[in-house]
Amino acid sequence: MSYSGKIVWVTGASSGIGEALAKAFSDQGASVILSGRRVGALDDVARACRGDTLELPFEATDYDALPGIVAQAEGWKGRIDVLVNNAGISQRSLGKDTKFEVYRELMEVDFFAPLRLTQLVLPAMLARGEGHFINIASVAGKIGGVLRTGYSAAKHALIGYSDALRAENEYAGLKVTVVTPGFVRTNIATHARSGDGSERGRSDEDIDSGISPDEAALMILAGIAAGKREIPVARGAIAEALKLKSIDPERLFDVMAAQGAMMAARE
Ligand SMILES: NC(=O)c1ccc[n+]([C@@H]2O[C@H](COP(=O)([O-])OP(=O)(O)OC[C@H]3O[C@@H](n4cnc5c(N)ncnc54)[C@H](OP(=O)(O)O)[C@@H]3O)[C@@H](O)[C@H]2O)c1
Repeated sequence: MSYSGKIVWVTGASSGIGEALAKAFSDQGASVILSGRRVGALDDVARACRGDTLELPFEATDYDALPGIVAQAEGWKGRIDVLVNNAGISQRSLGKDTKFEVYRELMEVDFFAPLRLTQLVLPAMLARGEGHFINIASVAGKIGGVLRTGYSAAKHALIGYSDALRAENEYAGLKVTVVTPGFVRTNIATHARSGDGSERGRSDEDIDSGISPDEAALMILAGIAAGKREIPVARGAIAEALKLKSIDPERLFDVMAAQGAMMAARE
């Protein structure tokens, strides 16, 4: 699918899935806006993109700054065709060990920040009668699993918001795509929050044995080209778990509870 002449804004473009998506959209001819906090990493991604890019570094939860950043994004080429809400953080802590503030941070970064950016981009898209939101959720937005009470809640919220936004606006020419990755080899686990709010500081086996970000980006673009409103990006056991959630949720709850019991036995 060609994105020639399209303006695509990718948040969390400084690493992982966002970096791979930025390059993939650029390969397809898009002009790409790159956002994230680390300017040096955004510079590297911009250099690796084929087409033209605009770097707009931001802290996604700096809500006072967002209107000005959206104005710069819209002012670059006169519009935004696609907003990829990808910036996010994960969690690796049991609910019983997790401070309330950590839940607040996960909800801010993974739910309220993409919601706020969407709110600010939506009016111009509605006025034009076209536009596309691609919201990177997670399998954790479909399935509640161990060590992810806050992350799972935030991603469930993002999916609920996205599905309702689509229901309200598809007739008006807007597209809303939800992406539910399983395990993708990125920095997500290393940067995940521990119960006290500190960064975990190391990856885990599930993530390290996951699919590559480039493969995830290709799966996402293929799903979009096929017109899917929800795109699972997973293989193996995690893909099976997603299917089980819809065909036999009670069985899935047994599987997830067994994981919780195993983890408790190891403690
Ligand atoms: N990897 C997986 O297995 C997996 C599975 C399911 C869902 N996901 C989702 O995929 C998305 C991308 O994650 P990833 O796996 O690619 O992880 P990653 O490599 O850690 O990338 C996360 C990106 O989000 C940005 N970011 C984080 N907090 C931010 C903030 N407060 N303000 C602005 N930017 C922020 C980071 O940029 P800076 O550090 O430059 O700010 C970085 O570019 C996330 O929404 C994640 O939940 C990932």
